[in-house]
Amino acid sequence: ITDVRESMYLVSEFAAKYFQDVLLNSEEGKAIGYSYFKERGFTNETIKKFGLGYSPETWDAFTKEALGKGYQLEFLESTGLTIAREDRPFDRFKGRVMFPIQSMSGRVLGFGGRILTNDKKAAKYLNSPESDIYHKSKVLYGIFQAKQSIAKQNNCYLVEGYTDVIQFNQAGIENVVASSGTALTPDQIRLINRLTRNITVLFDGDAAGLRASIRGIDLILEEGMNVRVCSFPDGEDPDSFARKNSHDDLVAYLEENSKDFIQFKASILMGDAKNDPIKKADLIRDMVNSISKIPDRIQREIYIQECARIMDISEQVLMSTLAQLIQKDI
Ligand code: CTP
Ligand code: MN
Ligand code: MN
Ligand code: MN
Ligand code: MN
Repeated sequence: ITDVRESMYLVSEFAAKYFQDVLLNSEEGKAIGYSYFKERGFTNETIKKFGLGYSPETWDAFTKEALGKGYQLEFLESTGLTIAREDRPFDRFKGRVMFPIQSMSGRVLGFGGRILTNDKKAAKYLNSPESDIYHKSKVLYGIFQAKQSIAKQNNCYLVEGYTDVIQFNQAGIENVVASSGTALTPDQIRLINRLTRNITVLFDGDAAGLRASIRGIDLILEEGMNVRVCSFPDGEDPDSFARKNSHDDLVAYLEENSKDFIQFKASILMGDAKNDPIKKADLIRDMVNSISKIPDRIQREIYIQECARIMDISEQVLMSTLAQLIQKDI
């Protein structure tokens, strides 16, 4: 680690401590930030576990405090915590509740900051900019808190958002990480692959979540990993769903509704394809295309068998379609 990066980590870790101290001990933090988290049902234990905090409304409260403690403006700016202004640098995250983003080993890399209102015009979350320590395509929110449980359960739940991770933890499910709204990347999948070969995708129950799940499936298969998908009712995300249900009901829901990718595609896309040969053919091609991403030949064959059974078509036809797709790849 270079001195520059180490200095950036130290500034970020100081910031996380400062934001949490403000949340728990200042009048403004308690009245605004802490009560926001309480309304979302977060316990004190959860707030500590995820290092949650609050950044004051004041123009440069954090920047001043950090400079006063001897942290250099250079690193406050390179981490994005402070925004440069010749005359008066100011705090990027003013008036937001703060979610520190940590590496696998627990170092603070960056932050997500949420506005407290549901003002549709303002960006709901503001995130740290890319920097020498924060590469958003290579991190997964919650991986530090989740890693032991992922290895132990030999499965990783993949959700979209910060609060989905947190609410699942509170419901007693700790093997969960978030892609944080970015399209899932191979680097993120490889991070999970160090701990388990099994991923269950739990994206929001809306059109965007569905699209993201479908994109995610092929990427996960390409990494040679097993993917299951569990959808949520319309308008629910893992956070809202976990809040409405008991631990046991949540566990039962995940158990009963997790499907492998063939079953998942059949269940969501079969509706209009059932009585339409052209749509059905497209769906089958789409399934075979996903199967073609799997590096292992035996696994490919097993999914071909499943696809044949579910779609009521011969394995032979599927195998020759698969062979064509794999040829094209070479
Ligand atoms: N996100 C972001 N910037 C936004 C909106 C979303 O970075 N303007 C990221 C955040 O990491 C967020 C995730 O995408 O957690 C999922 O987005 P969304 O489902 O809209 O937010 P929720 O996590 O459900 O947030 P909340 O429950 O607080 O409304
Ligand atoms: Mn780098
Ligand atoms: Mn969403
Ligand atoms: Mn959501
Ligand atoms: Mn939500």
